[in-house]
Amino acid sequence: MNNEEKETTFYEGRIADTYDRQRFDTAAGQLIHFTEWKMLRKAVGGYSDGIKILEVGCGTGRFIEELVKLKHEPEGMDPSEDMLEVCRKKLGESQAFFRRGEADQLPYGEGQFDFVYSIRVMNQVESVDYAHRAIAEMLRVTKPGGRVLIEYMDRRRSKFARRKVRLGKEWVNRRVDSDTRLDGSHLQKMVVDAGARVEWRRGVFFLGMTSYYAAPKPLLSLVGGLDRLLSRCFPSLCSRCYLLIRKGN
Ligand SMILES: C[S@@+](CC[C@H](N)C(=O)[O-])C[C@H]1O[C@@H](n2cnc3c(N)ncnc32)[C@H](O)[C@@H]1O
Repeated sequence: MNNEEKETTFYEGRIADTYDRQRFDTAAGQLIHFTEWKMLRKAVGGYSDGIKILEVGCGTGRFIEELVKLKHEPEGMDPSEDMLEVCRKKLGESQAFFRRGEADQLPYGEGQFDFVYSIRVMNQVESVDYAHRAIAEMLRVTKPGGRVLIEYMDRRRSKFARRKVRLGKEWVNRRVDSDTRLDGSHLQKMVVDAGARVEWRRGVFFLGMTSYYAAPKPLLSLVGGLDRLLSRCFPSLCSRCYLLIRKGN
């Protein structure tokens, strides 16, 4: 990856200050966060407390905060020092560790974690090849018998989403055209070839996150309910897919 590309994928500067506000200051942002946390919690739910977890592209650590509350031992990795700084301010090294690094070259040895996950990152990396390398890296640092959760955008999803979305008072560019989209069937094959297996695959946000922000507040729970129903019926057409992989058999 060259320096020019890095500037477009790493969340540096002002975005680190506004990231949590955009997620938690609106009812729509909170509902989206809750849906994502529910998927992650379902995936880690099979473990008792105290497992070693790695988040690849941890951003400001919004999920790490939740995992600490469940008494797990999470570690966050992100290429952006600005995002990591927000994590350290919120959590401190005593509750969770944070390290700088990139998804395609994880700065960890083989088999160090019980559970490794990545949310809202695979659609932002520079290419499909990069995403595949990152997934292979996530499997490498997972213990045999451990699990990997990947959130990605399926290539079958149409690109009808709006390019800009209003978050609170700001209009944010969603870079819809530049999203990296993965092929679910290819991922399944890749997983099997790597000696792992897919435990489950789910879709969320069939209506797209934009519809949550666009909905008038009194209609938000209705939109959320309809979205959950449609997502259950048409998982591979959802704007976001989750794949839970078990390393080894
Ligand atoms: C949309 S944020 C998601 C953060 C967090 N996972 C969450 O859901 O709140 C995307 C994050 O991926 C990080 N990122 C961008 N390129 C990356 C790469 N090549 N490897 C790892 N992380 C990357 C960004 O710096 C940013 O913090």
